[in-house]
Amino acid sequence: MKIVNINKDWEFEKEGEKSRVSLPHTWNGLDGQNGANGYYQGKCVYRKTLPGEKKICYIEFNGANSVAEVSVNGKKVGEHKGGYSMFRFRIDPFLDKEENLLEVSVDNTVIPEVFPTSADFTFYGGLYRDVNLIYAGETRFSLDDGSRYAVRAVPARQGDSWVIDVKTSISGANADTVCLYELKDADGITVARSTRPSDNPDDILSISSPHLWNGVKDPYLYTLRCTLVKNAKEIDEREINVGFREIEFDSEKGCFLNGEHIKLKGVSRHQDRENLGNALTLKEHEEDINLILEVGANSVRLAHYQQAEEFYTLCDKKGLLVWAEVPVITIYSKARQQNAEEQLTSLIKQNINHPSIFCWGIENEITLSGERNKKLVAGLNRLNDIAHSLDPSRPTACAQVAMAKPDSLLNRLTDILGYNHYFGWYMQTVNALDKWLDDFHKTNPSVKLCLSEYGAEAVIGYYSENPVQGDYSEGYQALYHEHYIDAVNKRDWMWGSYVWNMFDFGSAARNEGGVRGRNNKGLVTIDRKIKKDAFYMYKATWSDEKFVYITAKRYPDRVVGTTKIKVYSNLPEVTLKADGYEKTVKADRIFVFDDVPVKKGDNDVVVIAGKYKDSFTVNGVDKLPESYAIGKGVPILVRNWFGTDGTLKDDCLSVNDRVRDLLDNDEAQSMLKLAAGNTVKKWYVKLLRPFRIRTLLKIAGIDPQMTDIINGFLQTIKKH
Ligand code: GCU
Repeated sequence: MKIVNINKDWEFEKEGEKSRVSLPHTWNGLDGQNGANGYYQGKCVYRKTLPGEKKICYIEFNGANSVAEVSVNGKKVGEHKGGYSMFRFRIDPFLDKEENLLEVSVDNTVIPEVFPTSADFTFYGGLYRDVNLIYAGETRFSLDDGSRYAVRAVPARQGDSWVIDVKTSISGANADTVCLYELKDADGITVARSTRPSDNPDDILSISSPHLWNGVKDPYLYTLRCTLVKNAKEIDEREINVGFREIEFDSEKGCFLNGEHIKLKGVSRHQDRENLGNALTLKEHEEDINLILEVGANSVRLAHYQQAEEFYTLCDKKGLLVWAEVPVITIYSKARQQNAEEQLTSLIKQNINHPSIFCWGIENEITLSGERNKKLVAGLNRLNDIAHSLDPSRPTACAQVAMAKPDSLLNRLTDILGYNHYFGWYMQTVNALDKWLDDFHKTNPSVKLCLSEYGAEAVIGYYSENPVQGDYSEGYQALYHEHYIDAVNKRDWMWGSYVWNMFDFGSAARNEGGVRGRNNKGLVTIDRKIKKDAFYMYKATWSDEKFVYITAKRYPDRVVGTTKIKVYSNLPEVTLKADGYEKTVKADRIFVFDDVPVKKGDNDVVVIAGKYKDSFTVNGVDKLPESYAIGKGVPILVRNWFGTDGTLKDDCLSVNDRVRDLLDNDEAQSMLKLAAGNTVKKWYVKLLRPFRIRTLLKIAGIDPQMTDIINGFLQTIKKH
C-alpha cells in the first residue's frame, strides 16, 4: 500500500467564483465565526486533475462537511452523507484517460436526513481534513470495509493473562498469501507472533502480564504490526497502537482504571480554531492536547462528532481517556435515523483500536424539544444495540439535556450517563446543582452518572470586584467552576465531569456578551492565546505542576482604597506583598486577599508560594473604566435567563406573545435561527404567525419547565 497525500493545489468554486486552494480547507473560516449575517451554507466544488491509473487506487476523504459527491470525468463515483467520518471510493476504473478531472461537490446545507440539523456550533463546510490516494495490490488489507485499518484488535483480560481478539478484513485473499501478526513492545521487541492464512485471518493473540496502558500516568503502547506475505515478500502492512487496559464504572464508587479508582477530570473539545474554522493541521491538534494536559485533565469529551484520527492517536499517546460521540443532537427525527446509524458505525469501526476511547456517546441533548417523539426511544435503542454489537468491550453513553426528568426512560438506556447542567448560568443559581445531584442519586441509585457538560461564559475584557451571574466576566466564570468542581469532588459516586468547554468555539447564530458568532464558555480563547482565570483554578485543582497565579491581571485599574486579589495555587501557602502590605494565607487552591491597599497610580503586587512567584501592577483610579462592565444595550441572550420568577416584564417578549411578534423582531429572529437552524419551512412559519407561543408550545408537548426557560429567553428581548 502506498499513500499519496493530494492536499495541494485544488481549484475551488463557490457561487461561480473560482480560486486555487490547498486542503485542509473550509469556506466558513471567517463567516462561520463573525456572526455578521449568518454564514454560507450551500454547495461548493473542488476540482483536481489526476493522471491515468491502471493499479488499484482508492481516494480517501478524512472529512467533508457535510454531504459530498465525487465524480471523475463527469461520472459519479460515490456519495457520502455525514461531515465527520472518513470515507473512501475506488477510483482507478474511472481514471481511464491520460488526464482525468476529479470533482468533489461538498454541501453544508442543512438537510433533514443528515445529523446535525440544529446545534450550538457552526457547521463549517469544506474538504477540511486530508485527502489521500491509496494504491494497493490485488491482495490487500481491505480499503472498503468502512474501517480505517481493516484490522480490529481489541485486548481483553482473561484471568491472569490477556488476549487480543484480532479480526482482519482482506480483499483478494488467496492460498499463497499469509497474514503475519507481530505484537511489539515500546522498545520494538516482539512479544507475541502468529501467522494465519489470508483467507481465514482472524486470530487470538495471548500475552501474559503486559505493561498496562494506565491513562496519563503511564500511557504505555504496544504496536501490532500486521503484514501480508506472499513468497517471502511483504505485500501490504498495517501498524496499530494497542493498549492493555480495563475500565469499569460503579454507581456508588465511580470509575476504575485497571482496578484502581480514578475520577475522570474532563474537559470537552470542539475542533475549530479562530479564522481556520475546522480546517486544522497536526500543529493545532498538538497545541490543543498540550493545553488539555497543562490544565491537568485526564479525560476529554470530543464533542459533538467524530474528530480527526490524529487527535484520537494523540490521546492514546498521552493517556487521555476519550468520550467519543456522534452528532445525534438537539432534535430527533426518524428521517435521520439511518444516517445516525451510519455515522455511529463509522465512528466505531474507524476508531475501535484506540485504547484512549472508553465509551461511545450515542446522543447529546436529543430531547431538547421534548421526549414526545414516539420513534425516539426505539431509534436510540437501535443505536445503543449497534454500538454494543460492533464493540462489546466499551460502554455506551448519552449526554442528557438538563430538563430531562430524572425518571426519563433515556436515563436507563445506555450503560453510563451524563447530564448537561447550567444551573448558575442559564437558570437558577449554582447551589441548585447540589440538590439536583443528591435528589437524582437518591431516586436513581443504580445510574452511573457524570456531568457531561457545565460551563459559564467569560468574555475577555469584563471585570468586576464582585462578579455576578450573567456578567460575562472571567471572575464569575471562575466562581461558577469553583462551585461545580467541588460539588463533583465531594460526591464519590460520580465518576467524573466535563467542563463545557476547553476552548471558545464558533457558533454562528450566537450573539452574547457583546461577541457575535461565538460560544465563550472556553477556559481558553478560540485563538488559544489567552488562558482565562478559570483555567488556573482547574490547574490548581487537577495538576501536579506547581505554580502560583494572580487572577484578574488583565484588569489592572482598581479604585483607590483597597482591592480584592484572588490567587490560585496548588501550594499550601501564598504570601502577597504590596506597598506596605504583606500577608500570608494558608488555603486549599483559592487564596483571597481582600484588603490589598491601592493608592493612585502604580502599585506593585507580588505573590510568592514556595519558589514560585507571580506579579502585576495595579493602577489606582477613581472609577473603574466603563469598558470593564458589559455595556448597556449590548445584545445578550443570557442575562435574564435565571430571572423567570413569574413577574413578567411588559416591555420584553414572552410566551404570551404571538409568533408574528417574534418574527418581526431582529433579535428574536437570530435566536430562532439558533434554536431551529434552517429546518423550519418558511410557508409553515407564515401559517403560524397568528398563534400564541404558549399555545404552540403546549400543542407541541413541550413541558412546563422548558416553556419557562423559553420564556426566560424571550424576556431578555425588548419589544420594539
Ligand atoms: C448544550 C449543548 C452544547 C452547547 C451548550 C451551551 O447544552 O450540548 O452544544 O454549546 O449547551 O449552551 O453552551
